[in-house]
Amino acid sequence: MRLAVLKERRAAETRVAATPETVKKLLGLGLEKVAVETGAGLASGIPDAAYREAGAEIAPDAAAALAGAGIVFKVRAPTEEELALIPRGALLVGILGADEAAARAYAERGIDAAAMELLPRITRAQSMDVLSSQANLAGYRAVIEAAAAYDKAFPMMMTAAGTIPAANVFVMGAGVAGLQAIATARRLGGRVSATDVRPAAKEEIRSLGAAFVGYEDEESRAAQTAGGYARPMSAEFLRKQAEVVAGHIAKQDIVVTTALVQGRTAPRLVSAEMVAAMRPGSVIVDIAAEAGGNVALTKPGEMVVTENGVKILGYANWPGRIPAAASALYARNLLTFLATFWDKEARAPRLPEEDEIVRGVLLTRGGRVVHPQFAPAKAA
Ligand code: NAI
Repeated sequence: MRLAVLKERRAAETRVAATPETVKKLLGLGLEKVAVETGAGLASGIPDAAYREAGAEIAPDAAAALAGAGIVFKVRAPTEEELALIPRGALLVGILGADEAAARAYAERGIDAAAMELLPRITRAQSMDVLSSQANLAGYRAVIEAAAAYDKAFPMMMTAAGTIPAANVFVMGAGVAGLQAIATARRLGGRVSATDVRPAAKEEIRSLGAAFVGYEDEESRAAQTAGGYARPMSAEFLRKQAEVVAGHIAKQDIVVTTALVQGRTAPRLVSAEMVAAMRPGSVIVDIAAEAGGNVALTKPGEMVVTENGVKILGYANWPGRIPAAASALYARNLLTFLATFWDKEARAPRLPEEDEIVRGVLLTRGGRVVHPQFAPAKAA
């Protein structure tokens, strides 16, 4: 069985789905060949030669890489051109961000598609959890870029010329990205506080040495779903939450927003009025920008400077801004997924229908859409 790794073609995608380390291990599983499209690793600092040394074959283009492939590793969903080149029967693994139409297209092309962003949040799946590995780095990178955009210092500095106060940092949303943002801001010496709606997050915030600031009521006590995600909160709750945090935000130098609600646009947590009340020189990083943004003034994909001198960084693809580390972890996530479902004798993947992980990620199988989220509604 052959595995293909393509160069990512979507805008601003710097990551790659395999590294020399994982190529070696993939070959160790018993794959006959790993073909890497030329230049696939360049934006992550991996030259073709490093893949070749690890045992991969370098293919001159996507068509050559995909010829005869039984497995395709991608970061993002394939483009239409790429899709047309994937052999029938192949297993496609990536962050596919699929909708019903895309799932149908995979089925029509006879491709078994595994959308890794749909992985269930269970212990057994942790080492394949692409959302976690990437969000972790996004949270780190967001704080590093906030520090670079901030014209003052994070730590308190007592010098002969006087004292520079510590930066006040407020992290909104304390999931994987938010907790890493808290830890990073603390390491840089910021004075850190954070908020979330899930009750479990409050303890996690405190255990990292940050102060919890937030509104709690009956609704927030039930805010966590069985899957570990936040429920969409009512307009009434969001209004009360805003009342509590508005005064706090006005005193912050750095605000990092990471709040997401699975399958929906990001909740709006910071209004234009809250931004207007911040001091000039303050920095907001909106990690949720791609999902619509937590901040009213965010321009997805851009940095804006408001009239009162607040910088809002709304870049897309935060993990892609730290590509070498993001690719290293992402590639290991995919390797673990394949190794978990690898049939040694057949030297091919075997995805048992009843497995919880398989049921979570597999969109299509044998030309049919099998995922409940995307399967066409059954006729009554
Ligand atoms: P996420 O990316 O969906 O959301 C980020 C954060 O935003 C969450 O903490 C969420 O509670 C928060 N949020 C949503 N609405 C908000 C609002 N109105 N105000 C403030 N905050 C709001 O979440 P992520 O980072 O993917 O993690 C969710 C949970 O899953 C966490 O408890 C994490 O520990 C758990 N998890 C479990 C894993 C496992 O067991 N395999 C793997 C990864 C995460």
